[in-house]
Amino acid sequence: MFPKLGRRRSTALPRFIVNMNEQTLSSINWTGRFASRVARMRRSTVRELLKVTRQPGMISFALGLPPAGLFPVAETRRAAQAVLDAHGGQALQYSETEGLPELRDWIAARYSQPGMSFTRANVLVTSGSQQALDLIGRVFLEEGDAVLAENPTYLALLGAWRPYGVDFLAAPCDDEGMRVSELGPLLERRPKLLYTTPNFQNPQGTTLSHSRREELVELTARYDTGIVEDDPYGELRYEGEPRPGLFALDAIAAERSGRRPNVIHTGTFSKVLAPGLRIGWVIGPEEVVDKLVVAKQAADLHTGTFSQNLVCELLRDGVLERHLPRLREVCRERRDAMLAALHRYFPSDARWTKPEGGMFLMVTLAPDVDTTALLPQALARGVAFAPGADFHVGGDGRNTMRLNFSNCAPEQIEEGVRRIGKVLPCA
Ligand SMILES: Cc1ncc(COP(=O)(O)O)c(C=O)c1O
Repeated sequence: MFPKLGRRRSTALPRFIVNMNEQTLSSINWTGRFASRVARMRRSTVRELLKVTRQPGMISFALGLPPAGLFPVAETRRAAQAVLDAHGGQALQYSETEGLPELRDWIAARYSQPGMSFTRANVLVTSGSQQALDLIGRVFLEEGDAVLAENPTYLALLGAWRPYGVDFLAAPCDDEGMRVSELGPLLERRPKLLYTTPNFQNPQGTTLSHSRREELVELTARYDTGIVEDDPYGELRYEGEPRPGLFALDAIAAERSGRRPNVIHTGTFSKVLAPGLRIGWVIGPEEVVDKLVVAKQAADLHTGTFSQNLVCELLRDGVLERHLPRLREVCRERRDAMLAALHRYFPSDARWTKPEGGMFLMVTLAPDVDTTALLPQALARGVAFAPGADFHVGGDGRNTMRLNFSNCAPEQIEEGVRRIGKVLPCA
């Protein structure tokens, strides 16, 4: 509905114009005019759950929300003041599509390593990493292209790329991420891109092992398939050794063999500072970044100047480095609370992943359980989860659910898991 405007004084439209407008409005069949790709667009059930989960008393494991109580509110207030003091109106002005040079330099330096150095020319600042994924889809994908992705995969990636009419190929996974040794037959179909979240994957929480990373980089280069490495959770490791990024391994292999780099990396401040800032990025070869910039010009001109300035100020002030240890500690405690509660309240035939970081784990129930059908019962008991089928490339996974553990205190986690346990059939 359009908002009601205040009554205008003596500006009533002549009757014949009103009639004409009514006629025109009612005669337009908007849905008949939608582009054919709209048929491939689906509302995200998980995002729709946001409305329900705002109800008082609801315990929600449904969305990927960072712990709200930990957002650096006081630091952001100070940063906002500092930005306005330093830049005045310039901080509120339009700015270049590529992003603020200072922020691009920080991102390039953060990800450069010996033997692999980036400059700001390799970096585009985006409105969250979701926009980075969307722009990659716009620039690379056309109808009939094959795209290889972990099965299950990130729901909003499916939402962003499905409208292009691509054919998603489902990569089999286990507790160490994608089963790379089984990808040969899928790569024979020459997918244009392989999309992966190698660290603490959404929705499974699993991490690709070091040896599989090396194997994947080698294999995709052989088949000429580009990798999109989406890494929103990499900084949130609670235990175990960090694994090298695919783009680092690829850069080293590319240098050694004289081939071009094969990986585009996406990242974000959403999970480590605050998602409301909407600051993400792409790091990639210059020729790719150039085209993404053109696509972004058409999409939104540039990412918010004020938000970018705020993030620069927070980084300059060392807020990220001070904030990360506490964030990791709180999320680890919540993960442990969820693992303990699952042991206590879930049926003995249920299985779940044990993430070393990130914000999610995935539960697999007996084959005949349908978690989509169970959701209304859980909501009636005041708890929400994300049914697993939506994350699956081929519509399988009906007996799975994704649980987010980062956004509830340990006592709520215990209570919420207990409530879900009540609606599950006993083993
Ligand atoms: C795997 C993955 N990629 C990308 C995103 C998008 O994050 P943002 O757009 O907030 O940077 C998310 C958010 O939940 C995610 O889980």
